[in-house]
Amino acid sequence: MKKTWWKESVVYQIYPRSFCDSNGDGIGDLNGILSKLDYLKELGIDVIWLSPVYQSPNDDNGYDISDYQAIMAEFGTMEDFDRLLFQIHKLGMRLVMDLVVNHTSDEHPWFTESRSSRDNPYRDYYIWREGNGNCPPNNWGSVFGGSAWEFDEHTNMYYLHLFSKKQPDLNWENPTVREEVFQMMKWWLDKGIDGFRMDVISMISKTPGLPNGPVQNGLYGDASPYTVNGPRVHEYLQQMNREVLSRYDVMTVGETPGVTVEEARKYAGEEGDELSMVFQFEHMGLDDHPLGFKWNDTPPKLVKLKATLSKWQTELAGKAWNSLYWSNHDQPRAVSRFGDDSPKHRVQSAKMLATCLHMMQGTPYIYQGEELGMTNISFETISQYRDIESLNAFRELTGNGILTQPEMLRYLRRKSRDNARTPMQWDDTLNAGFTTGEPWIEVNPNYPQINAKQQIADPDSVYRYYQKLIRLRKTHRIIVYGSYELLDPNDETIFAYTRKMEGQKLLCACNFSSREEVFFPPEEFIVRPGVCLIDNAVARYCCESQMTLQPYEAFVYLI
Ligand code: NOJ
Repeated sequence: MKKTWWKESVVYQIYPRSFCDSNGDGIGDLNGILSKLDYLKELGIDVIWLSPVYQSPNDDNGYDISDYQAIMAEFGTMEDFDRLLFQIHKLGMRLVMDLVVNHTSDEHPWFTESRSSRDNPYRDYYIWREGNGNCPPNNWGSVFGGSAWEFDEHTNMYYLHLFSKKQPDLNWENPTVREEVFQMMKWWLDKGIDGFRMDVISMISKTPGLPNGPVQNGLYGDASPYTVNGPRVHEYLQQMNREVLSRYDVMTVGETPGVTVEEARKYAGEEGDELSMVFQFEHMGLDDHPLGFKWNDTPPKLVKLKATLSKWQTELAGKAWNSLYWSNHDQPRAVSRFGDDSPKHRVQSAKMLATCLHMMQGTPYIYQGEELGMTNISFETISQYRDIESLNAFRELTGNGILTQPEMLRYLRRKSRDNARTPMQWDDTLNAGFTTGEPWIEVNPNYPQINAKQQIADPDSVYRYYQKLIRLRKTHRIIVYGSYELLDPNDETIFAYTRKMEGQKLLCACNFSSREEVFFPPEEFIVRPGVCLIDNAVARYCCESQMTLQPYEAFVYLI
């Protein structure tokens, strides 16, 4: 397996709107991030992934871009950006930017031109179709609810938007669109950024003819069979790699909903003519509703979680590189979803989850606040939510009688993207030190108990534990490159696995339950003395043939 810097890195994701506000307008900004670089350096991370900071009308918080080469006024200026990039590099870290090119904003000049007439030179930058009588061209539903087609009265045609109607899909079949995107990418790379996280990049190629999809919930057809891993997606990414990426020393991670192991080997193959790695979503779908949507409140089953993550570990081994994550700006807080956010178990279970993920093969991603064990927020009413996906889903699913309002509010509390978007909790002063103004979304009221200042001062905090995990990855190659094997796949409470490399062996054991559980380590770890690299509950000086693990205990043993 080839050794590269991005395989050996730990990435930290910043959602700028919610990270740190420097000017009191209630919205995080670039100078806010600048003021926290020392915090990130101290944590030990190597790469920052910055969610979109480009000019945007903010229908989807920056994932609807109206100018790819300008900074959103609320976030600052291009000079602020340049200063931030300079400082990140000066501190020995790297910066990866979000690349959102499946769609633009409907306020992007390309779209303004495109919609102005049927024969405008920009018409073919987007996907326009005639209606089917009075109906849209096909039955596809949008990810954010409603039809994926919007009728445009001006030219009497429909345009495709797989996300909101303010996010029209670009037509990647048009070679000029690809050329424009590649030029824009080069512009950022020439500025010195270190790579891209590519938004829904598995969706850029649509099946010609745009066939109807299977109908779900009696509402709309599922577009994914014809939009995910589409017929030309690899051709497009290979072209992008040839013409842009291969000319720079970059890391790229594709956000690839619907990716299979087989597809991932193509996107992120070890021989590398597309991307460095992809985000797979299988473990994010384990707690979906039986009706097929994400709105639900049943926790995922550990046996399935182990099977899923282990499948990706073993089936990509030597063939493609994994990215490792529990959370991001689209997912609920990890400790609330996979751990236990009660005061009794929050710290322990957050550390346990971190151990379980950071000892696997792949590049670990930490989402802002995860390193503090930040939790979901309990909004009581729909008016407290800000996220377009949550608001649309509430309206659609309760309006159609598929779910009741109390049910949907319960599901939102568990799964809404806003759980990840409440402001970063810096200290116990007003608004958790995030802003001196009125925050754009409420701060989690638990900030006096859960905040960075207090955790930096506490050697046993979740923050300090993450710091230690990151250091271990830097000092033990086996954590980066060792081979992986799952132990006891059917054990319903313990997630244990081994890593092996060049005569070294590592055991990672994690109790996912709130009770004591008995664990039987493999024989080889009992007979050979070794060292405990990290533990979150009990100092484990040796492995015994039978061990009683504390609630949410995790330990890592190296022989
Ligand atoms: C995936 C992004 O992570 C999400 O936040 C966004 O809403 C959609 N893509 C559309 O860009």
